[in-house]
Amino acid sequence: MMKTDKKVRGERAGEPRHADVDRPAVAGGKPVRDEFLIFGQPLIGDEEIAEVVATLRSGWLSTGPRTRQFEQDLGRYLGVEHVLGLNSCTAALHLALLSAGVGPGDEVIVPAMTFAATVNVVEHVGARPVFADAAADSYNVDPAAIEACLTPRTKAIIVVHFAGLPCRMDVIAPLAERHGVVLIEDAAHALGTEYHRRKIGTLSDFTCFSFYVTKNVATGEGGALVCRQADADERARIMSLHGMDLGAWQRYSKHGNKHYEVVYPGYKYNLTDLASAIGIHQLKRLDEFIEIRTRYARMMHDLLGDLDTLLLPEVEEQDDRHAWHLYPVMVRPEALTVGRDEVMEAVTRENIGIGVHYRAVPMHKYYREKYGFRRGQFPRAEFISDRTFSLPLQPRMTEADVAQVARAVRRVLVHYAKGPRRSE
Ligand SMILES: Cc1ncc(COP(=O)(O)O)c(C=O)c1O
Repeated sequence: MMKTDKKVRGERAGEPRHADVDRPAVAGGKPVRDEFLIFGQPLIGDEEIAEVVATLRSGWLSTGPRTRQFEQDLGRYLGVEHVLGLNSCTAALHLALLSAGVGPGDEVIVPAMTFAATVNVVEHVGARPVFADAAADSYNVDPAAIEACLTPRTKAIIVVHFAGLPCRMDVIAPLAERHGVVLIEDAAHALGTEYHRRKIGTLSDFTCFSFYVTKNVATGEGGALVCRQADADERARIMSLHGMDLGAWQRYSKHGNKHYEVVYPGYKYNLTDLASAIGIHQLKRLDEFIEIRTRYARMMHDLLGDLDTLLLPEVEEQDDRHAWHLYPVMVRPEALTVGRDEVMEAVTRENIGIGVHYRAVPMHKYYREKYGFRRGQFPRAEFISDRTFSLPLQPRMTEADVAQVARAVRRVLVHYAKGPRRSE
């Protein structure tokens, strides 16, 4: 497992250290890159392309044999029995809540620091989201904040393994169990993450994965729900396809039975064979992808660790595995002449694609207005929201690309650092 010493700096990528003569594009210098580096572009191989073509030729484009195979492959990778392929992680989260019987009058504890999808689904089932602040030392939720949010109405807790760094499941899982509350893991960032040597997907009743285009396994759009219990999986499976008790494969394949019964007013959340064709081959390379991401994260740490204008992301504990879906950094505005957004603009001008993950959900208009949130209620999530942006580290990049990203960030931060301007 990687354990990076933030103080160690390497010259492995051959980066120039003479940042004081490195004028950024925003101040008239030549951009670090000629071509724009797109954030989060997937690495698609010939196998994925051939499988998609074979799927097209087979005529079975929607949910069928390839989705079944992808579900089985994922089950084998995770070491779990029940995997339901879906068209998004959002669908998986929605079905997890429904399958767990969460509805109007219930409260669901959610992290303030997450993507909106984690929380929107709570609204979809008519329950009330109760926000828990982030921990002091990472982007993950603070277990003590979860505990403080528990009430007799709490029906479920959703945790997010932010960027692929596992949450403190040794504290959170017993807490949920003690209070008889359903634990749902939003593992959109965490396919391949391990907590205390156990894969995320094996630790709780419901785990939700994403195969969105930027994710560690990318199918364009896609997701999966892992249920510990067979009956929960069965409920979710039926709800995922109009509430019919038979899927298309059972209805239209050679041995199918054309009659079905609608037993619930369900959804249209099924994963297509076209997407699964990509996923089958992406999954085979997941561990290799994570190794590359880990190597690139280490490079970023080495190349940027000395900047006092920047805070780098936490690394994992000894027995854990970080999936490094994201590499989120935070600017230190007190050490800079400009704010985060100007820094992002300047890095983008270097032809480096970056993103913000995320503005805390209670800071968004819908939640702010519906629940009357004010600044200062989630100090840690707000701190992160105001300062964070993510650097690209997808396996499609080369080490030279990573070095360029680091160089762009360095020249921009040196340019905007308080004190004598060294880039002019
Ligand atoms: C933390 C988190 N949860 C849920 C989702 C939703 O995933 P999907 O786009 O597959 O619905 C995302 C997507 O980026 C996410 O980052």
